[in-house]
Amino acid sequence: MLDGGVGVRKIISKIDPNSEQFARNFEHNVNDVLTLRERQQWAIDGGRGRERSIERHLSRGKVMVRDRIDMVIDEGTAFMELSPLAAWGQYDDEVPGAGIVTGIGVVHGVPWMFIANDATVKGGSLVPMAIKQHVRAQDIALENDLGVIYLVDSGGAFLPLQDEIFPDKDHFGGSFYRQARLSAAGLPQLSVVLGGCTAGGAYVPALSDEVIMVEGIGRIFLGGPPIVKAALGEIIEPDDLGGAQLHTYTSGVSDYIAQSEAEAYGKLREICETTSQRRIDERQSWFDFDHDVEPPAYDIGELYGVVSADDRIPFEAIEIIARIVDGSRFHEFKPDWGESIVTGFARIHGHLVGIIANNGIIFSEAALKATHFIELCEQRRIPLVFLQNTSGYMVGRDSEAGGIAKNGAKMVAAVANATVPKYTVLVGGSYGAGNYGMCGRGFQPRFLFAWPNSRIATMSAETAQTVLVDIRLGGMKGQETTDEEIEALRAEVREQYETHSNPYYATSRLWDDGLIEPEQTRDVLGLCLALAARQDEPAPGGGLVYRM
Ligand code: COA
Repeated sequence: MLDGGVGVRKIISKIDPNSEQFARNFEHNVNDVLTLRERQQWAIDGGRGRERSIERHLSRGKVMVRDRIDMVIDEGTAFMELSPLAAWGQYDDEVPGAGIVTGIGVVHGVPWMFIANDATVKGGSLVPMAIKQHVRAQDIALENDLGVIYLVDSGGAFLPLQDEIFPDKDHFGGSFYRQARLSAAGLPQLSVVLGGCTAGGAYVPALSDEVIMVEGIGRIFLGGPPIVKAALGEIIEPDDLGGAQLHTYTSGVSDYIAQSEAEAYGKLREICETTSQRRIDERQSWFDFDHDVEPPAYDIGELYGVVSADDRIPFEAIEIIARIVDGSRFHEFKPDWGESIVTGFARIHGHLVGIIANNGIIFSEAALKATHFIELCEQRRIPLVFLQNTSGYMVGRDSEAGGIAKNGAKMVAAVANATVPKYTVLVGGSYGAGNYGMCGRGFQPRFLFAWPNSRIATMSAETAQTVLVDIRLGGMKGQETTDEEIEALRAEVREQYETHSNPYYATSRLWDDGLIEPEQTRDVLGLCLALAARQDEPAPGGGLVYRM
């Protein structure tokens, strides 16, 4: 792991950090990051009417959701939060962060998935984006062998939208199905009950392997006091119906009782220590990077000057790679052929990876090169990292005659069937079938992150305004259309595409696992790769390499 990169040549950057272009890009991209941070802060403590909810929560002696997680994880370690901007711009801005926090944190050196309800947002009840995030966290846990810690403080399904959360495969039922199967897969499911868990909310602890309830705030009931009154005419206090004492001393739904949140988290850490979850190795905690690994030769902060402020001006994939891989060392595969895709081997925090990165439009040769390279990585069992910045596969007569449809399809099929861990970062455009070939969400990379400058859609707004307007005009043949009407139609299409391809629109809907700052890319990928490094990998020899 230490000397593996040595011997591979360093990338020689062509970027001039003193150029005007660099300064322009830098200012633009840093502003993008500041906007991202502001919006993330809003998800933490903003939203309509939130102040009152937060005050009420604190006045009950309850701890805020992210502070709860901090009380559980190892001191001095950070929490890798996923999708903090879920539900951004949806539900009239009343559900910041979708009212749920998910992410990976370390307990006694071992990584765990956390799923924690934020009771200051609609009582922690689950809106459609919250259930999507909950289920996504469970899927990540399964694929990466993570136990799950549920910090439960939830009124269950968000009732006004129950049809969008209750019955379908990946809805509430799907989350309980996953929970049971995660447990069966040997991945511990642990719950701390910190609020009134009603109906669906009650099944999260009930399906857990071990449950801790905090007296005075934690309650579990299939039907709360109002339902019991309506159904049976019984009037009963919440603690008598489903408090920590009842469930620990009488029903046995809970295994431990704690007098405070702090005591509960102490018990939780004890339980974690008694499970057989794996560290990366005996000495190393998941969160510790190996300090002997060579950092990139170029300052990672220079990414802000590399990425174009104007998305019509391309930037070189190699310049991104130079700033995220160990020692900026990169063994490029087939450097002189199919140059619209860059492929090659490098290390990220010591982990050997195959990188596939775009230089804009994907031509036939590039698609074939990428296919060949995916096969190499599959044969050698090397994880793949995709850096997406493409407007899609090349169109036009020459390209069609050259078989772009079948060559692109080979790449798409190779990505779909690659069984090595795959990771995707949107560093620019993610358009058309380029999204698929470069391992977009539909191709199930283990994690998918996006930069705040990224865009995702079937085609760019520029292209869409021409294509869609031509189609509509085609359908209006024989009717008079003025230039003003055509221009208005163009503007409408452009605006719609700009809105829908915006990274905040995407992250709000969980098309990714979160927007990250370009500077965080190396560490985030390093942590994701370290998760896979804990798992037993099949030996090399995964298939024949077909030369394309
Ligand atoms: N669906 C929609 N909204 C819900 C909700 C749910 N299941 N549970 C809580 N809320 C909302 C409340 O309407 C309120 O909204 P507001 O801030 O816009 O006024 C907010 O969450 C806080 O609820 P409140 O009852 O004031 O807070 P509380 O801390 O005193 O109690 C609960 C929290 C969860 C115990 C309580 O709200 C409750 O019992 N909810 C209903 C649970 C239920 O029956 N679920 C069935 C799921 S299938």
